[in-house]
Amino acid sequence: MMVYDLIITIFGATGDLTSRKLLPAFAKLYGEKQIPEKTKIIALGRRPYTDESYLETMMQAGKITQGEEILKELVTYFPMEITEEDGYKPLVSMVESLKHQETRELYYLAIGPELFPIVTKYMNQSSLVIQGNANQSIVFEKPFGHDLESARAINEMLWRYFDEKQIYRIDHYLGKEMIQNIMMVRFANRIFEEIWHNRSIKNIKIIAKETEGILGRAGYYDQSGALKDMVQSHLLQMLSLIAMEPPLSYFSDDVKDEKVKVLKHVTFDKDSLIFGQYKGYHDESNIPKDSQTETFVFLKAFVNTPRFKGVPFYLMTGKKLDKKESLIIIEFEETSEQRKWNLPLSTNKLYIKIAPLDGVGLVLNSKVPGLRDDVEEVELEYCIACHAVGNLSEAYEKLIKDITGHHKTLFTRWDEIEFSWSLIDHIKKYQKEPISYQDYEDLKPLIQDLTGELMP
Ligand code: BG6
Repeated sequence: MMVYDLIITIFGATGDLTSRKLLPAFAKLYGEKQIPEKTKIIALGRRPYTDESYLETMMQAGKITQGEEILKELVTYFPMEITEEDGYKPLVSMVESLKHQETRELYYLAIGPELFPIVTKYMNQSSLVIQGNANQSIVFEKPFGHDLESARAINEMLWRYFDEKQIYRIDHYLGKEMIQNIMMVRFANRIFEEIWHNRSIKNIKIIAKETEGILGRAGYYDQSGALKDMVQSHLLQMLSLIAMEPPLSYFSDDVKDEKVKVLKHVTFDKDSLIFGQYKGYHDESNIPKDSQTETFVFLKAFVNTPRFKGVPFYLMTGKKLDKKESLIIIEFEETSEQRKWNLPLSTNKLYIKIAPLDGVGLVLNSKVPGLRDDVEEVELEYCIACHAVGNLSEAYEKLIKDITGHHKTLFTRWDEIEFSWSLIDHIKKYQKEPISYQDYEDLKPLIQDLTGELMP
């Protein structure tokens, strides 16, 4: 029988994450020879599919249009009840028969955290995964619990069965091109490095707007809401990369040490919190009619480090807004001359554009060409996608490739999660009834009234 260099076993392989993100990423990585030629994907699910009917269903569910032939070659469907011990023996025999001594094994838990205790226990008891075996990695993503306490419990349980070096916690934002680029922009450009502090920076906006609603994820989303779904993970990750001190080195742990120091020092202004819920949320299927879950959140936070003390960080995210856009705006103070002139000058801004088009933009003041004395705001723009040679990789492709190569920088360490949950638990204490909004225009004036800031 053929043996493989890489075996990826997916728990929860009939779900949304597998169809929309994982399968397309595997197909692309394989097509581009970024993962070994001898790769096998074992998809675990309860339903009695054949390999063909499984793939057909997933291709339709995930609207996958490319890579069908590759996936046919890679994927084997293995029906199994992952919450029953009996299923593990045949799975272990199958994996054993497919691997050699050096095989890299990824176990992707695309399942809810409530299933982690039972699944990890059986993985361990059946010796599917041996604690300490660095060739075997456990991969999963949020929700890492629903508050600090539950996150701690999950983590302690994971540490009972696996070593930290085997654990890969995904925050898919960290796989996005421009997020990876933040450190480069900050630390490899003198012009920014010199002015990256509270004497030059007026405020920072971290924004993740979406146009879609909850896309049928009622069960998860209604228990979560925008604060836990987006701020706890993606927005706080962006904030820590923007606010951290230069790390001792760019090795994973040194970078994480600096990010954690930031997360420990974040506070927020309880009077500027805004919670919103889009009109029609109660009509989504499986959402209780009296649900108060927020689909929008705005908050003003501070990072109390010498570098950033006093600089407001405006964090905003929401669903059913005017556009899909993830963006960080660093707004600089006016120059002293600028303050003296009575001209409609704007402030300099650095845009870090994360999605849909990633790149950087720098807003400057410039004289309008010609005989008039007017000024105008101009933007120097760099669009990554426009200059990339070949296709840009999607976040999951980058992350999966890094796991296969044992690179941990783009994965979150437990203490990052711990401190972000502790902040979120604190904010939760001030949760208010959400304001109902039809669109973003209903929220913008509110933010401006509360903070004086005009959010884009
Ligand atoms: C996920 C959230 O982590 O990120 C979703 O659970 C959200 O609610 C998604 O829609 C946004 O990610 P992206 O990559 O589309 O900006």
